[in-house]
Amino acid sequence: MTHQIQVHDKKFVPYLNTEQLNEQITRIASEINRDYVDKKPLFIVILNGAFMFASDLFKKLDIEAEICFIKLASYKGVKSTGKVITAIGLDAELYDRDVIIVEDIVDTGKTLSQFLPQLSHHHPKSLKIAALLHKPEALQYDIKIDYLGFVIPNKFVLGYGLDYDGLGRNIDCIYQLIE
Ligand code: IMP
Repeated sequence: MTHQIQVHDKKFVPYLNTEQLNEQITRIASEINRDYVDKKPLFIVILNGAFMFASDLFKKLDIEAEICFIKLASYKGVKSTGKVITAIGLDAELYDRDVIIVEDIVDTGKTLSQFLPQLSHHHPKSLKIAALLHKPEALQYDIKIDYLGFVIPNKFVLGYGLDYDGLGRNIDCIYQLIE
């Protein structure tokens, strides 16, 4: 895994290989298996980016668990409040459930900071976040990640579900932008 790739106009180099991803996802799964014995958590996967992480994580769970998928749509507010994020496809009953949000990456934290209060209105019993990647240097909102794969520098990454302008999601490991 030493080759450079080009996606659209940008060049990327390998950053996290499949073994590293597998190792951390196995660790996260074992933490969740330990923390959710007899709890039957509901995983809410945020599309598109988290689909590959969620799939590999879910296969490693040996507890009873449910999964559903949502998309977050951003709308420009008519007022100066800026973007409002709305969940599309959230049809599961969250009341009194142990909910785990599955995200590909927490970057600025803006998406989750707007979305989590919406979920809280449904009164889940508990609400936790599992994210594969986190860029602490980019974080602008107070987001606590409960299950985290990797802390990474503030550089654009792609692969393993993450895209650059629609491409790169099918790559089985993570690449980093050459700047
Ligand atoms: P946030 O709201 O700034 O935390 O960003 C959340 C979303 O932005 C993630 O779920 C990704 O879809 C996207 N994103 C953030 N950083 C990257 C990156 O380095 N590569 C690809 N997508 C990213």
